[in-house]
Amino acid sequence: MKYVMPQAGRAALDFLASLSTVGRDLTAPQESALDKAGLSEDKLADDLGARAQQIEGVLADVPAWRVANLMGEWHAVHHGPLAVEAFTPIADALKPQFARAQQGPTTLTADPDFTPPKYWLYPIHRTAGGWDAHEDFGFIHGEFLQRYILSKIPRPPAAGNAPADLYEQRRLVAEEAPRLDYHDIFEIGCSSGPYTLKLAQVFPQAQITACDISHAQLLQAQRNANAAGLSWRLIQADGAASTLSDASQDLVTSYIVLHELPVEAIRDIVREAFRVLRPGGDLLFGDVAPYRAMTKRAAWRTDYLATYGGEPFWRGASTLDMAAVLTEAGFVDTKSYGLQPGNYPWVTYGRKP
Ligand SMILES: C[S@@+](CC[C@H](N)C(=O)[O-])C[C@H]1O[C@@H](n2cnc3c(N)ncnc32)[C@H](O)[C@@H]1O
Repeated sequence: MKYVMPQAGRAALDFLASLSTVGRDLTAPQESALDKAGLSEDKLADDLGARAQQIEGVLADVPAWRVANLMGEWHAVHHGPLAVEAFTPIADALKPQFARAQQGPTTLTADPDFTPPKYWLYPIHRTAGGWDAHEDFGFIHGEFLQRYILSKIPRPPAAGNAPADLYEQRRLVAEEAPRLDYHDIFEIGCSSGPYTLKLAQVFPQAQITACDISHAQLLQAQRNANAAGLSWRLIQADGAASTLSDASQDLVTSYIVLHELPVEAIRDIVREAFRVLRPGGDLLFGDVAPYRAMTKRAAWRTDYLATYGGEPFWRGASTLDMAAVLTEAGFVDTKSYGLQPGNYPWVTYGRKP
C-alpha cells in the first residue's frame, strides 16, 4: 500500500514506540530494589497473589515503578485512539487501494450472521471495540500498531546489524512442524496474516485455510495475501467450530492466539483441531511461555502487565498444562517447550494417531 502518513500521526506512533523503549530502561532499577529488599527466588511465594503483595509492597516507593505504571496506563488508554487518528487523514486515499487489493487469488468467506463468543467481545489490550475496533482495524493494527511501531523499537545490541525481520519468531514456530509436505493447513486466529505469510513461505505447496472471528482483520489478511500472490481460503469462523470437514487437514496451527482465550475455549479449540485433522496430522501452537518456565519475578511481571494491559485470560492460559490438554483430547507425542532465550515463542505440539 502506498501512503504518506501526516506528521502528527507519525509523531504519535513514534511516541508510542518510544514508550516501549524507555520502559525497558525502567526495569533495572526495579530489579535492584527487589534485590536490595532480599526478594530472591527462594523468598518469593508460590501463590501469585501472595507474591504480588511481596513484590508490589517493595516497589510502591520506587520511582521507576511508578513512572512505568504511569506510562503503561497512558499507553493502554491512548494507543487505539492515536492509531485511528493517524489513519483518518489517509483513509480516503487508501480506500481505492483497499478495494483493488481485495481482488486476487485469496478468497474471503464472511459470515454476516456470525455471533462471536462472549469472551471475544472483551476490549482486548484495552482497545475499545477489540479486534473489530474500527472497520479498517485490520490495516490500523497490522500496519501501525504492529509493523510500524515494532520497526521503530531498537533491536537489542546482540542482534547486530542484520536486517530485522519483525516476524522471524513466527517462521521459527512454523519450522518446528515435523514435516514439510503438508497438503492442507488450517490456521486459527490469523488476524491480518503475519503468521500465515510465514506458513506460506515454509510450506509453499500447501493449501492454507485460515480463520478469524474479526472481519476487519480478515480483510487485511486478504489484502496481504493478494499482494504476495498467494491463494489462501480465509473464513470468518470460530476456531472451536470451524465449519471444516472431519479429517480434512494435515496441520492445524496458531500463533499467539491461545493466551487471549479462556481455558474452556482453548480446550474446545484443541478438540476441534482433533476433529478436522487427518490421522497422522499435526497440531502446532506458538504462544507466550507458561509461568512455570519463568523465574518467579518474571512471572509476576508478566501477570501484572497482562492484568493491567487488558489481557484477562493470560493467567489461565499461562498456568495451563497444554501438553496435558492435548493428551486428554486424544493427541499423542505431545510436548511443550520454549524457543530462544526467554522461552519465547513457546511451542506446543501433538499428533493425531
Ligand atoms: C493476537 S491475534 C493473533 C495474531 C496472529 N496470529 C499473529 O501471528 O500475529 C489474536 C487473533 O485471534 C482471533 N481470535 C480470538 N479468538 C478466536 C477464535 N476462537 N477463533 C478464531 N479466531 C480467534 C482474534 O480475533 C485476533 O485476530
